[in-house]
Amino acid sequence: MTLTPLGLDPTLCFIGGAWVRALASARLALINPSDGSALCEIACGSDADIDRAVQAASAALHGDWGKATAAERGRVLARIGQGVLAHVDELTQLEALDVGKPLKQARADVIALARYMEFYAGACDKVHGETIPYLDGYTVYTLREPHGVTGHIIPWNYPMQIIGRSVGAALAMGNAAVLKPAEEACLTALAFAEIARQAGLPDGALNVVPGLGAEAGAALTRHPGVHHVSFTGSVGVGKLIQETTARNVVPVTLELGGKSPQLVFDDADIDAALPFLVNAGIQNAGQTCSAASRILVQRGVYDRVSAEMGKRYDAFRVGPALRDLDVGPLISARQKDIVEGYLAKGDGLQVVGRGQIVDDAPAHGAYVAPTLFTGVDPDHVLAQEEIFGPVQVIIPFDTEEEAVQIANGTDFGLVAAVWSQNGARQMRLAKRLRAGQVFLNNYGAGGGVELPFGGTGLSGHGREKGFEALYGFSTLKTVAAFHG
Ligand code: NAI
Ligand code: MG
Repeated sequence: MTLTPLGLDPTLCFIGGAWVRALASARLALINPSDGSALCEIACGSDADIDRAVQAASAALHGDWGKATAAERGRVLARIGQGVLAHVDELTQLEALDVGKPLKQARADVIALARYMEFYAGACDKVHGETIPYLDGYTVYTLREPHGVTGHIIPWNYPMQIIGRSVGAALAMGNAAVLKPAEEACLTALAFAEIARQAGLPDGALNVVPGLGAEAGAALTRHPGVHHVSFTGSVGVGKLIQETTARNVVPVTLELGGKSPQLVFDDADIDAALPFLVNAGIQNAGQTCSAASRILVQRGVYDRVSAEMGKRYDAFRVGPALRDLDVGPLISARQKDIVEGYLAKGDGLQVVGRGQIVDDAPAHGAYVAPTLFTGVDPDHVLAQEEIFGPVQVIIPFDTEEEAVQIANGTDFGLVAAVWSQNGARQMRLAKRLRAGQVFLNNYGAGGGVELPFGGTGLSGHGREKGFEALYGFSTLKTVAAFHG
């Protein structure tokens, strides 16, 4: 296994269509979270590198990329998608090593990245303006135009999927993108840049500058040459970015995670629900913005659901990403500390299921045993705060009204699910639940790239994925012509 597929040198940044040395000599060390070993060093971009990248993006808008027709943008995105698929094995390995994802999860992320490219390739020439009936003597129409330079700050949990949904939509609308991947996981972002280069993406349409959040990330959000910022990550940094971009009056899309509930009613098909209930808690070791960290269960099925979920938890095996078990390590020792801190706050709660870290798991891996608490009060800290680890809480309820109050009773609002065979209840709750996506008798719907996604409250605002993202990554101009 090579860490540099496609001949990559990870100590370089991708700016203006070329691999260039970062201006500062600092480097970032990437760690393999499965065993704590050093993977490789990558570039640590500074303010000055971000400035170069923004200038390259700006130049692209006035060059070949800016002149490309919608159909030409679609063709190049389609080629990038093919390039991703051509490197599915290398990308899978890279993500497994860098992020600690079990191979099946890493592979699913590669396929999702390719799907985003396919979807947005096909969408480029299908975003149309309108003609508006108006006063006598006028013709009025609208033009959908790119913002210009878009900044993309992404986290480490799903680098490829988040590149796909944000960079894919931005490029589809003709923006030029500057991507700052998370310092913990950069390799697939760099590989993606090389795939895009080989696919013939015009110079400067995509630039990738790894670096620290407080340095390169902050520089990107305050740069006056950036016209839109898309951020996925923590609430605290999201707030900072909204403040910073406000100074330049720049629109921002924030995707900040959640505390998403699944509601299980007495009349639900419990056997169908069970795999979704637990998988939505342990997928990617719980480091998923839309993790279902709260399971609300009606009293009539509460004992059964707790016991059955507990059994599944007991069977989960945790170990190195390349072993491809149920759960891999967390991203870092730091994330493990955060999650263990939360587990300590669960002292005194009833644990109904706990997975096992395999005996030969490397001592310096960031492993946490998946833990399922039951009988948890909705106001408990474990039922209110995003843990971002393989931890779920089960909360009992009696009535539909109570379930809605509990479900909507956090500061977040990202996704929610309802398990019930009662169609009227499904319809009622789909309206009443405070979330950007509601699932009826499923969870996540297979992650479809077609489905608009985003939150309310502390989960953020703006929508990515699907066609909807194309509106967020563009601006509307109204043209009113008087011709008498
Ligand atoms: P983070 O919010 O610090 O990192 C996300 C991205 O923001 C990274 O690329 C980072 O370099 C960048 N960043 C950090 N500070 C910045 C700044 N001042 N200006 C611009 N960019 C900046 O998240 P972190 O520390 O990795 O994770 C902490 C917690 O955040 C997790 O435990 C989890 O609760 C939440 N989180 C949520 C995610 C989601 O998918 N919504 C993803 C990652 C983390
Ligand atoms: Mg890493």
